[in-house]
Amino acid sequence: MTNLVEEAKRIAAYQAVDDNVLNNTAVGIGSGSTVVYAVDRLAERIKAEKLKIVCVPTSFQARQLILKNNMVLGDLETHPDLSCVIDGADEVDENLVLIKGGGGCLTQEKIVASCTPKLVIIADHTKQSKNLGDRYKKGIPIEVIPLAYVPVQKKIETIFGGQAPVRMAKSKAGPVVTDNGNFILDWQFPPETLNNSWESINNKLILIPGVVETGLFINMASRVYFGLQDGSV
Ligand code: A5P
Repeated sequence: MTNLVEEAKRIAAYQAVDDNVLNNTAVGIGSGSTVVYAVDRLAERIKAEKLKIVCVPTSFQARQLILKNNMVLGDLETHPDLSCVIDGADEVDENLVLIKGGGGCLTQEKIVASCTPKLVIIADHTKQSKNLGDRYKKGIPIEVIPLAYVPVQKKIETIFGGQAPVRMAKSKAGPVVTDNGNFILDWQFPPETLNNSWESINNKLILIPGVVETGLFINMASRVYFGLQDGSV
């Protein structure tokens, strides 16, 4: 990852926090490397402007970031209505359909995103594409109940084509286990998938028994901040 890309993530995150976070609100905190910059900026603003913000995490990672920065940790039980949610994405197409879940946190991210009218996405310019799959080559993450992973895999491959391997851990032998104790299939969809609407594909995927959630975020993002190479957002 070049410094230019890191700088692009930072400027997108800072701008999004400055434009969207208001005093006396509850805010959802996404997951991934770009969100780290958003939390840095939010912590800075809370201190400088004495803001009262409750932060609701989308993952173990987000929870740790909130605690590490001495911010107020909340949850959806006490704060089911969030003023905004700031999160990253693996890819954003021209209709603002997102692929999320490269970091494995898609289910909690989607739940938290559903609790706000304002899902704000922050990303560097490499995430912007015309069609999903143009930039992010690992496929669409799909969280599954562990005992169902092979039947779900077979159904996805039979119904839609492509391949849906189980995501394997890098630092241990065996699969990646999500914050919810589940597995992830990364569905590498065939090119003809693009002839269908992502909404109808998502609706079919969700109906397969054992599928918990997909990393397709459709009609959810209200704004996307891309950090560009020339230093603008
Ligand atoms: C986590 O599961 C993902 O949805 C992340 O939000 C997404 O992968 C973006 O991560 P980066 O900011 O690290 O690219």
